[in-house]
Amino acid sequence: MQEKIKIAVIGSTGQLGGDIVEVFSQNDSFECVPLSHSDIDVVDANSCQVLKEIKPDFVINTASFVRVDDCEVMPEKAMQVNGIGALNVAKVCKEINAFNIYISTDYVFDGEKKEPYVEEDFPQPINVYGASKYLGEVFTKAYSDSYAIVRVASLYGKRGARGKGGNFVEFMISKAKNNEDIYVVDDMIMSPTYTMHVAKMLEKMIKEGKIENGIYHMTNEGFCSWYEFTEKIFELLGWQDVKLNRIKTKDLNRLAKRPLFSALENKRLKEIGLNMPRWEEGLKEYLIEKGYLK
Ligand SMILES: NC(=O)c1ccc[n+]([C@@H]2O[C@H](COP(=O)([O-])OP(=O)(O)OC[C@H]3O[C@@H](n4cnc5c(N)ncnc54)[C@H](OP(=O)(O)O)[C@@H]3O)[C@@H](O)[C@H]2O)c1
Repeated sequence: MQEKIKIAVIGSTGQLGGDIVEVFSQNDSFECVPLSHSDIDVVDANSCQVLKEIKPDFVINTASFVRVDDCEVMPEKAMQVNGIGALNVAKVCKEINAFNIYISTDYVFDGEKKEPYVEEDFPQPINVYGASKYLGEVFTKAYSDSYAIVRVASLYGKRGARGKGGNFVEFMISKAKNNEDIYVVDDMIMSPTYTMHVAKMLEKMIKEGKIENGIYHMTNEGFCSWYEFTEKIFELLGWQDVKLNRIKTKDLNRLAKRPLFSALENKRLKEIGLNMPRWEEGLKEYLIEKGYLK
């Protein structure tokens, strides 16, 4: 019998971590070890030693402090979880010879580019969250022998982001159900991404031995504004009388600056013949999974 590939998932109770655990646990080729925040605290180097007992072949680190505005007022915490946390995990992975996968973000970019960012583009974060994730990337690269930095963006999944108390799609649906006026920015462009599609791509890459050192962009294909994304939610649901209004990012007065254009091009995946589904398909699948659509 072929030996199973052992995967440790850090942040297993999270929106993305939960889907990754679900996908890998259902595949007989893998033994999946979910690690919640109480099983491992990435900020604490001692706590990360637990990985030595597990001896995984791959570690997927989804742990993160994800509240972008809160990162501005708690920069130390952001740097600890997203930066030092990545360093601690990388060091142990190196000792136990595990392939280290660090989940990162489109927010490492400044949004000034007029076409989707590719893996070779140089990060230039414009907020604390982006800087802390970039620090995590730098540590991952510097301290790992075998690693991948996987940049995802604008995630939504059935568990909702724990750090954010839900996901954007559910926020919009609940506002519409309450018949509220909904205001969404039409000048911020990104690649909305369904967590299950990221989980399945990671599963495929590891199973087929296609994951190698370096950076991968892994978002649903294409891009749109948050306004267009919201329009599509209600179009798919067939809800015609939702009170949806356009606004501009500058009118939101949010604490953290955000890149106005952060679409990612999955260039490296495409080079090895792997394609992510389009964002519209991701959204449709999500709505079906949640029981909103048949
Ligand atoms: N959400 C997005 O739109 C988005 C966009 C781009 C990139 N990303 C990246 O995608 C990844 C997953 O995000 P997500 O949406 O799944 O977030 P999430 O639902 O908030 O999940 C984060 C997980 O990390 C755990 N965690 C937090 N601090 C930890 C620590 N010190 N040690 C160990 N575990 C810790 C959390 O557990 P507790 O809740 O129990 O603390 C939670 O299970 C992150 O790397 C994030 O930066 C997310």
